Amino acid sequence: MVDSLKKPGFEEMRSGIKVPAKETLLTPRFYTTDFDEMAKMDISPNEDELQAILEEFRADYNRHHFVRDAEFEQSWDHLDGETRRLFVEFLERSCTAEFSGFLLYKELGRRLKDKSPVLAECFTLMSRDEARHAGFLNKALSDFNLALDLGFLTKSRKYTFFKPKFIFYATYLSEKIGYWRYITIYRHLEAHPEDRIYPIFRWFENWCQDENRHGDFFDAIMKSQPQMLNDWKARLWSRFFLLSVFATMYLNDVQRKDFYASIGLDAREYDVYVIEKTNETAGRVFPITLDVQHPEFYKRLEVCVNNNEKLTAIANSKTPKFLQFFQKLPYYVSNAWQLLRLYFIKPLDAAATQGAAR
Ligand SMILES: [Fe+2]
Ligand SMILES: [Fe+2]
Repeated sequence: MVDSLKKPGFEEMRSGIKVPAKETLLTPRFYTTDFDEMAKMDISPNEDELQAILEEFRADYNRHHFVRDAEFEQSWDHLDGETRRLFVEFLERSCTAEFSGFLLYKELGRRLKDKSPVLAECFTLMSRDEARHAGFLNKALSDFNLALDLGFLTKSRKYTFFKPKFIFYATYLSEKIGYWRYITIYRHLEAHPEDRIYPIFRWFENWCQDENRHGDFFDAIMKSQPQMLNDWKARLWSRFFLLSVFATMYLNDVQRKDFYASIGLDAREYDVYVIEKTNETAGRVFPITLDVQHPEFYKRLEVCVNNNEKLTAIANSKTPKFLQFFQKLPYYVSNAWQLLRLYFIKPLDAAATQGAAR
Protein backbone atom coordinates (compact mmCIF):
# COMPACT_ATOMS: atom_id res chain seq x y z
CA MET A 1 0.00 0.00 0.00
CA VAL A 2 2.82 2.35 0.86
CA ASP A 3 4.30 1.27 -2.48
CA SER A 4 2.12 3.72 -4.35
CA LEU A 5 3.80 6.42 -2.29
CA LYS A 6 7.35 5.46 -3.13
CA LYS A 7 7.65 8.10 -5.79
CA PRO A 8 9.96 11.11 -5.56
CA GLY A 9 9.19 12.95 -2.35
CA PHE A 10 7.28 10.07 -0.90
CA GLU A 11 10.02 7.82 0.34
CA GLU A 12 9.75 6.26 3.74
CA MET A 13 12.26 7.28 6.39
CA ARG A 14 11.53 4.46 8.73
CA SER A 15 8.39 2.42 8.76
CA GLY A 16 5.45 4.79 8.64
CA ILE A 17 7.45 7.97 9.08
CA LYS A 18 7.63 10.12 6.00
CA VAL A 19 10.66 11.99 4.86
CA PRO A 20 9.42 15.47 4.04
CA ALA A 21 8.75 15.95 0.33
CA LYS A 22 11.58 17.43 -1.68
CA GLU A 23 11.89 21.16 -1.23
CA THR A 24 11.21 23.34 -4.25
CA LEU A 25 10.40 27.00 -4.77
CA LEU A 26 6.75 26.09 -4.39
CA THR A 27 6.88 24.16 -1.10
CA PRO A 28 5.69 25.81 2.13
CA ARG A 29 8.41 27.99 3.67
CA PHE A 30 9.80 28.28 7.16
CA TYR A 31 10.46 31.79 8.37
CA THR A 32 12.57 33.64 10.89
CA THR A 33 12.88 37.36 11.59
CA ASP A 34 14.57 40.19 13.49
CA PHE A 35 13.09 39.62 16.94
CA ASP A 36 14.62 42.74 18.49
CA GLU A 37 13.18 45.01 15.85
CA MET A 38 9.76 43.47 16.41
CA ALA A 39 10.08 43.82 20.18
CA LYS A 40 10.78 47.53 19.81
CA MET A 41 7.67 48.25 17.78
CA ASP A 42 5.30 50.73 19.38
CA ILE A 43 1.83 49.23 18.98
CA SER A 44 -0.02 51.97 20.87
CA PRO A 45 -1.64 53.51 17.74
CA ASN A 46 -3.83 50.40 17.49
CA GLU A 47 -3.55 48.92 20.96
CA ASP A 48 -7.32 48.70 21.58
CA GLU A 49 -7.92 46.54 18.54
CA LEU A 50 -4.95 44.32 19.37
CA GLN A 51 -6.21 43.94 22.93
CA ALA A 52 -9.65 42.96 21.62
CA ILE A 53 -8.09 40.35 19.36
CA LEU A 54 -6.07 39.02 22.29
CA GLU A 55 -9.33 38.60 24.24
CA GLU A 56 -10.74 36.55 21.35
CA PHE A 57 -7.63 34.34 21.29
CA ARG A 58 -7.96 33.82 25.04
CA ALA A 59 -11.62 32.86 24.67
CA ASP A 60 -10.37 29.94 22.57
CA TYR A 61 -13.59 29.18 20.69
CA ASN A 62 -12.12 26.05 19.13
CA ARG A 63 -10.86 24.51 22.33
CA HIS A 64 -13.14 21.48 21.90
CA HIS A 65 -13.25 21.47 18.13
CA PHE A 66 -10.31 19.31 17.10
CA VAL A 67 -11.58 15.98 18.38
CA ARG A 68 -11.93 13.12 15.95
CA ASP A 69 -15.25 11.31 15.76
CA ALA A 70 -16.26 7.77 14.84
CA GLU A 71 -16.27 8.44 11.10
CA PHE A 72 -12.47 8.33 11.06
CA GLU A 73 -12.44 4.85 12.52
CA GLN A 74 -12.57 2.76 9.41
CA SER A 75 -10.22 1.44 6.80
CA TRP A 76 -9.18 4.00 4.18
CA ASP A 77 -7.83 1.38 1.80
CA HIS A 78 -10.60 2.20 -0.68
CA LEU A 79 -8.81 5.50 -1.26
CA ASP A 80 -6.14 4.10 -3.50
CA GLY A 81 -3.84 4.76 -6.42
CA GLU A 82 -3.50 8.32 -7.62
CA THR A 83 -6.35 9.65 -5.43
CA ARG A 84 -4.62 8.33 -2.35
CA ARG A 85 -1.25 9.72 -3.40
CA LEU A 86 -2.72 13.16 -4.09
CA PHE A 87 -4.74 13.20 -0.90
CA VAL A 88 -1.77 12.22 1.23
CA GLU A 89 0.23 14.94 -0.47
CA PHE A 90 -2.52 17.44 0.33
CA LEU A 91 -2.44 16.39 4.00
CA GLU A 92 1.32 16.58 4.07
CA ARG A 93 1.55 20.02 2.50
CA SER A 94 -1.19 21.37 4.74
CA CYS A 95 0.46 19.89 7.81
CA THR A 96 3.83 21.39 6.87
CA ALA A 97 2.29 24.81 6.30
CA GLU A 98 0.43 24.71 9.63
CA PHE A 99 3.54 23.51 11.39
CA SER A 100 5.67 26.26 9.90
CA GLY A 101 3.16 28.77 11.32
CA PHE A 102 3.38 27.04 14.68
CA LEU A 103 7.19 27.28 14.79
CA LEU A 104 7.31 30.94 13.81
CA TYR A 105 4.56 32.06 16.20
CA LYS A 106 5.93 30.02 19.07
CA GLU A 107 9.38 31.52 18.64
CA LEU A 108 7.92 35.02 18.41
CA GLY A 109 5.89 34.45 21.57
CA ARG A 110 9.00 33.31 23.38
CA ARG A 111 11.29 36.12 22.19
CA LEU A 112 8.82 38.96 22.76
CA LYS A 113 7.61 37.74 26.15
CA ASP A 114 9.26 40.34 28.38
CA LYS A 115 9.43 43.15 25.86
CA SER A 116 6.05 43.27 24.15
CA PRO A 117 3.59 41.26 26.23
CA VAL A 118 0.44 41.81 24.16
CA LEU A 119 2.07 40.70 20.93
CA ALA A 120 3.86 37.87 22.71
CA GLU A 121 0.65 36.44 24.11
CA CYS A 122 -1.12 36.75 20.75
CA PHE A 123 1.70 34.85 19.07
CA THR A 124 1.71 32.15 21.73
CA LEU A 125 -2.04 31.66 21.42
CA MET A 126 -1.81 31.53 17.63
CA SER A 127 0.92 28.92 17.94
CA ARG A 128 -1.51 26.92 20.09
CA ASP A 129 -4.02 27.02 17.22
CA GLU A 130 -1.47 26.07 14.58
CA ALA A 131 -0.22 23.18 16.72
CA ARG A 132 -3.78 21.85 16.86
CA HIS A 133 -4.17 22.23 13.11
CA ALA A 134 -0.87 20.50 12.36
CA GLY A 135 -1.62 17.78 14.91
CA PHE A 136 -5.06 17.12 13.47
CA LEU A 137 -3.57 16.78 9.98
CA ASN A 138 -0.77 14.55 11.22
CA LYS A 139 -3.36 12.32 12.90
CA ALA A 140 -5.13 12.11 9.55
CA LEU A 141 -1.85 11.04 7.95
CA SER A 142 -1.70 8.23 10.49
CA ASP A 143 -4.94 6.88 8.98
CA PHE A 144 -2.79 6.27 5.92
CA ASN A 145 -0.05 4.66 8.04
CA LEU A 146 2.15 7.73 7.71
CA ALA A 147 3.32 10.52 9.97
CA LEU A 148 5.38 13.60 9.31
CA ASP A 149 8.41 13.64 11.55
CA LEU A 150 7.94 17.17 12.82
CA GLY A 151 11.08 17.16 14.95
CA PHE A 152 13.13 16.23 11.93
CA LEU A 153 11.35 18.89 9.89
CA THR A 154 12.18 21.53 12.52
CA LYS A 155 15.87 20.79 12.37
CA SER A 156 16.36 20.00 8.71
CA ARG A 157 14.42 22.78 7.00
CA LYS A 158 16.11 25.91 5.83
CA TYR A 159 14.69 29.06 7.33
CA THR A 160 14.03 32.15 5.22
CA PHE A 161 14.83 35.43 6.97
CA PHE A 162 12.34 38.27 6.54
CA LYS A 163 12.33 41.64 8.23
CA PRO A 164 9.26 42.08 10.49
CA LYS A 165 7.41 44.19 7.92
CA PHE A 166 7.72 41.42 5.34
CA ILE A 167 6.77 38.76 7.86
CA PHE A 168 3.55 40.73 8.42
CA TYR A 169 2.75 41.07 4.72
CA ALA A 170 3.47 37.39 4.09
CA THR A 171 1.77 35.88 7.13
CA TYR A 172 -1.24 38.19 6.79
CA LEU A 173 -1.73 36.93 3.26
CA SER A 174 -1.11 33.31 4.07
CA GLU A 175 -3.66 33.41 6.91
CA LYS A 176 -6.30 35.12 4.77
CA ILE A 177 -5.72 32.92 1.75
CA GLY A 178 -5.82 29.94 4.12
CA TYR A 179 -9.18 31.14 5.38
CA TRP A 180 -10.60 31.44 1.86
CA ARG A 181 -9.17 28.09 0.80
CA TYR A 182 -10.66 26.20 3.75
CA ILE A 183 -14.05 27.91 3.68
CA THR A 184 -14.41 27.45 -0.07
CA ILE A 185 -13.71 23.71 0.17
CA TYR A 186 -16.03 23.48 3.17
CA ARG A 187 -18.94 25.19 1.41
CA HIS A 188 -18.47 23.14 -1.72
CA LEU A 189 -18.52 19.87 0.22
CA GLU A 190 -21.45 21.00 2.30
CA ALA A 191 -23.38 21.34 -0.96
CA HIS A 192 -21.87 18.12 -2.40
CA PRO A 193 -21.40 15.66 0.47
CA GLU A 194 -20.90 12.87 -2.08
CA ASP A 195 -17.49 14.42 -2.89
CA ARG A 196 -16.30 14.34 0.72
CA ILE A 197 -13.77 11.56 0.41
CA TYR A 198 -12.57 11.87 4.01
CA PRO A 199 -14.12 13.36 7.18
CA ILE A 200 -11.47 16.02 7.87
CA PHE A 201 -13.24 18.51 5.60
CA ARG A 202 -16.15 18.71 8.04
CA TRP A 203 -13.75 20.41 10.50
CA PHE A 204 -12.83 23.18 8.07
CA GLU A 205 -15.62 25.61 8.99
CA ASN A 206 -14.50 26.36 12.55
CA TRP A 207 -10.89 25.74 11.63
CA CYS A 208 -10.86 28.51 9.05
CA GLN A 209 -12.22 30.92 11.66
CA ASP A 210 -8.90 30.48 13.48
CA GLU A 211 -7.08 31.49 10.29
CA ASN A 212 -9.40 34.43 9.83
CA ARG A 213 -8.67 35.68 13.36
CA HIS A 214 -4.94 35.20 12.80
CA GLY A 215 -5.22 37.28 9.65
CA ASP A 216 -7.11 39.98 11.56
CA PHE A 217 -4.31 40.07 14.10
CA PHE A 218 -1.76 40.85 11.39
CA ASP A 219 -4.14 43.40 9.89
CA ALA A 220 -4.24 45.10 13.30
CA ILE A 221 -0.46 45.00 13.75
CA MET A 222 0.11 46.57 10.35
CA LYS A 223 -2.43 49.28 11.14
CA SER A 224 -0.48 50.04 14.32
CA GLN A 225 2.56 50.70 12.09
CA PRO A 226 1.17 53.09 9.45
CA GLN A 227 4.64 53.53 7.94
CA MET A 228 4.35 49.91 6.78
CA LEU A 229 1.29 50.76 4.71
CA ASN A 230 1.29 54.31 3.52
CA ASP A 231 4.37 55.04 1.46
CA TRP A 232 5.36 54.18 -2.10
CA LYS A 233 7.49 51.27 -0.89
CA ALA A 234 4.45 49.73 0.79
CA ARG A 235 2.55 49.95 -2.50
CA LEU A 236 5.32 48.15 -4.35
CA TRP A 237 5.78 45.50 -1.67
CA SER A 238 2.06 44.83 -1.39
CA ARG A 239 2.00 44.20 -5.13
CA PHE A 240 4.98 41.92 -4.81
CA PHE A 241 3.52 39.84 -1.98
CA LEU A 242 0.03 39.62 -3.47
CA LEU A 243 1.45 38.45 -6.78
CA SER A 244 3.87 35.96 -5.18
CA VAL A 245 1.17 34.41 -3.04
CA PHE A 246 -1.39 34.22 -5.86
CA ALA A 247 1.04 32.94 -8.48
CA THR A 248 2.49 30.31 -6.13
CA MET A 249 -0.94 29.02 -5.22
CA TYR A 250 -2.15 28.97 -8.82
CA LEU A 251 0.90 27.09 -10.10
CA ASN A 252 0.75 24.63 -7.21
CA ASP A 253 -2.95 23.94 -7.52
CA VAL A 254 -3.16 23.63 -11.29
CA GLN A 255 -0.29 21.19 -11.10
CA ARG A 256 -2.40 19.22 -8.59
CA LYS A 257 -5.70 19.64 -10.37
CA ASP A 258 -6.44 15.92 -10.06
CA PHE A 259 -6.62 16.28 -6.30
CA TYR A 260 -9.20 19.04 -6.61
CA ALA A 261 -11.07 16.96 -9.17
CA SER A 262 -11.19 14.09 -6.66
CA ILE A 263 -13.26 16.29 -4.34
CA GLY A 264 -15.35 17.62 -7.22
CA LEU A 265 -13.59 20.97 -7.66
CA ASP A 266 -12.10 22.51 -10.76
CA ALA A 267 -8.67 23.70 -9.58
CA ARG A 268 -8.71 26.75 -11.85
CA GLU A 269 -12.19 27.90 -10.87
CA TYR A 270 -11.38 27.28 -7.22
CA ASP A 271 -8.21 29.35 -7.44
CA VAL A 272 -9.83 32.18 -9.37
CA TYR A 273 -12.44 32.43 -6.63
CA VAL A 274 -9.92 32.21 -3.75
CA ILE A 275 -7.68 34.80 -5.42
CA GLU A 276 -10.56 37.19 -5.99
CA LYS A 277 -11.76 36.91 -2.39
CA THR A 278 -8.28 37.20 -0.85
CA ASN A 279 -7.45 40.17 -3.05
CA GLU A 280 -10.68 41.87 -2.00
CA THR A 281 -9.97 41.13 1.68
CA ALA A 282 -6.39 42.44 1.38
CA GLY A 283 -7.82 45.74 0.17
CA ARG A 284 -8.96 46.42 3.75
CA VAL A 285 -5.37 46.86 4.86
CA PHE A 286 -2.99 47.02 1.88
CA PRO A 287 -2.84 50.33 0.01
CA ILE A 288 -3.47 48.54 -3.30
CA THR A 289 -4.95 45.34 -4.66
CA LEU A 290 -4.12 43.55 -7.90
CA ASP A 291 -6.20 43.93 -11.03
CA VAL A 292 -7.02 40.24 -11.20
CA GLN A 293 -9.75 40.89 -13.78
CA HIS A 294 -7.16 42.17 -16.21
CA PRO A 295 -7.30 40.00 -19.36
CA GLU A 296 -3.58 39.26 -19.12
CA PHE A 297 -3.64 38.12 -15.50
CA TYR A 298 -4.58 34.47 -15.94
CA LYS A 299 -3.25 34.33 -19.49
CA ARG A 300 0.27 34.93 -18.22
CA LEU A 301 -0.14 32.55 -15.30
CA GLU A 302 -1.18 29.89 -17.78
CA VAL A 303 2.03 30.46 -19.74
CA CYS A 304 3.88 29.73 -16.48
CA VAL A 305 1.79 26.57 -15.99
CA ASN A 306 2.92 25.39 -19.44
CA ASN A 307 6.52 26.33 -18.75
CA ASN A 308 6.47 24.36 -15.52
CA GLU A 309 5.13 21.30 -17.31
CA LYS A 310 8.05 21.55 -19.74
CA LEU A 311 10.48 22.00 -16.85
CA THR A 312 9.17 18.89 -15.12
CA ALA A 313 9.43 16.89 -18.32
CA ILE A 314 13.07 17.96 -18.75
CA ALA A 315 13.89 17.17 -15.11
CA ASN A 316 12.41 13.69 -15.52
CA SER A 317 14.20 13.02 -18.81
CA LYS A 318 17.40 11.00 -19.20
CA THR A 319 19.36 14.03 -20.43
CA PRO A 320 22.54 14.70 -18.37
CA LYS A 321 22.04 17.34 -15.69
CA PHE A 322 24.39 19.96 -17.17
CA LEU A 323 22.54 19.82 -20.50
CA GLN A 324 19.19 19.97 -18.74
CA PHE A 325 20.16 23.38 -17.44
CA PHE A 326 20.36 24.76 -20.98
CA GLN A 327 17.11 23.12 -21.95
CA LYS A 328 15.42 24.63 -18.92
CA LEU A 329 16.84 28.11 -19.27
CA PRO A 330 14.33 29.50 -21.81
CA TYR A 331 11.43 28.38 -19.60
CA TYR A 332 12.95 30.01 -16.53
CA VAL A 333 13.44 33.19 -18.53
CA SER A 334 9.87 33.04 -19.78
CA ASN A 335 8.53 32.52 -16.22
CA ALA A 336 10.51 35.49 -14.97
CA TRP A 337 9.25 37.60 -17.86
CA GLN A 338 5.60 36.64 -17.27
CA LEU A 339 5.88 37.44 -13.56
CA LEU A 340 7.55 40.74 -14.30
CA ARG A 341 4.78 41.69 -16.75
CA LEU A 342 2.19 40.62 -14.17
CA TYR A 343 3.91 42.78 -11.59
CA PHE A 344 3.60 45.80 -13.86
CA ILE A 345 -0.12 45.47 -14.47
CA LYS A 346 -1.51 48.65 -12.96
CA PRO A 347 -2.87 47.85 -9.47
CA LEU A 348 -6.15 49.13 -8.03
CA ASP A 349 -6.10 51.77 -5.37
CA ALA A 350 -7.44 50.42 -2.10
CA ALA A 351 -6.45 53.28 0.19
CA ALA A 352 -9.21 55.46 -1.27
CA THR A 353 -11.97 52.96 -0.48
CA GLN A 354 -10.53 52.35 3.01
CA GLY A 355 -10.77 56.07 3.64
CA ALA A 356 -14.35 56.18 2.39
CA ALA A 357 -15.37 53.25 4.60
CA ARG A 358 -14.09 54.93 7.75
FE1 LIG B 1 -3.71 27.05 10.87
FE1 LIG C 1 -3.24 30.47 11.11
